[in-house]
Amino acid sequence: MKRNQPYNPFLVAGYYSPEYFCDREIESAKIISALENDRNISLISPRRFGKTGLVQHAFYKIAKKDKNVACIYFDIYSTQTLNDFVTVFAESVLGKIDDNVEKVMKKFASFFKSFRPVLSYDALSGQPELSVKIEMETTSQSLQEIFSYLKQSNKRCYIAIDEFQQVAEYPEKGTEALLRSYIQFLPNAKFVFLGSRQHLMNEMFLSAKRPFYHSTQIMSLSVIEKDKYFQFAKAHFQKNGFTITKECFDIIYSQFEGHTWYIQVVLNRLFEYRKNINKPEVIFYAIQELLEENTYSYQELMNAYSDVQVNLLRAIAKEKMVTQINSGDFISKYRLKNASSISRALKKLMDNELIYKSENGYIIYDRFLGLWLK
Ligand SMILES: Nc1ncnc2c1ncn2[C@@H]1O[C@H](COP(=O)(O)OP(=O)(O)O)[C@@H](O)[C@H]1O
Ligand SMILES: [Mg+2]
Repeated sequence: MKRNQPYNPFLVAGYYSPEYFCDREIESAKIISALENDRNISLISPRRFGKTGLVQHAFYKIAKKDKNVACIYFDIYSTQTLNDFVTVFAESVLGKIDDNVEKVMKKFASFFKSFRPVLSYDALSGQPELSVKIEMETTSQSLQEIFSYLKQSNKRCYIAIDEFQQVAEYPEKGTEALLRSYIQFLPNAKFVFLGSRQHLMNEMFLSAKRPFYHSTQIMSLSVIEKDKYFQFAKAHFQKNGFTITKECFDIIYSQFEGHTWYIQVVLNRLFEYRKNINKPEVIFYAIQELLEENTYSYQELMNAYSDVQVNLLRAIAKEKMVTQINSGDFISKYRLKNASSISRALKKLMDNELIYKSENGYIIYDRFLGLWLK
């Protein structure tokens, strides 16, 4: 085993290499082809389906194929303002276009007039690291400087911005229009916008009133096909001298309806047992173990919600999916309060992403929480 390879082949965070990534052949080919044909993409799905992994996978393939393309990825989930955005953007771009930090530092004088670069050395590796400080007053100038820097490089760039819907929450008005206008006039760069909040993403890209309307190819990501996933799981078990039966895999897949991360977490556990997985009891044991480990955090989470909200969560968890949330049957079955208090609770729980509205009805977003509540 190579030293820096994963010890457990079922990753529960991040991306490593194609070997540990299941399928998504069609999806990654589609992304690569769009970028290579000058089309921007927006990639939309619920959380934990595998968007981030998929883009990393596509970038991995592109980097293998063409060393001259710069693949830049950054996540804006934790950004609150345009200034945060520009800072993260700057830090992700710098060092990706020019191959060494020293070269970048030289460019500061000519390009990044509004930034203050901070060069530090990683305490462990000794590698130089660049961060930037951008003053509030010069935010928009800084943004312009990043785009001019990208443009002058004449280098082909693919830029993925994760949790892009966050842009819509910035207090600065007109951020979308600003970004759109820069992106439009940057012929050497193509963009992938990833987002988990479906209605916000749909609004941004499908509403005729919004700046990004019709500017991307929309791609929604679905679950990995069951049989492909089984082959992947089986192969990794076998490589290590164990097996997992189809029957057992099917139980996991249907329990979580193919939702990638939850399946990965269970497979990761089962692999840890280092034995043949051929009895359903082993799976229920693993899931039980996972729920118990989460009990404390789920209890804490529930403490932050009112009785009405928690009761509604429990009711949805018991049903697994609720189509008619205001129906008399549902309300009386779980002795919920009146329809208007349910609507209020529902809104709060959806805003906080505890409940998710799927095509077929309302579900508990976190599938482990759903099982725990049940
Ligand atoms: N095709 C895949 N094969 C194996 N694991 C995957 C795959 N796609 C995603 N994962 C794993 O599932 C988890 C969630 O994926 P992620 O890309 O973070 O989802 P999203 O960005 O949609 O929230 C991660 O731990 C990732 O390692
Ligand atoms: Mg993600």
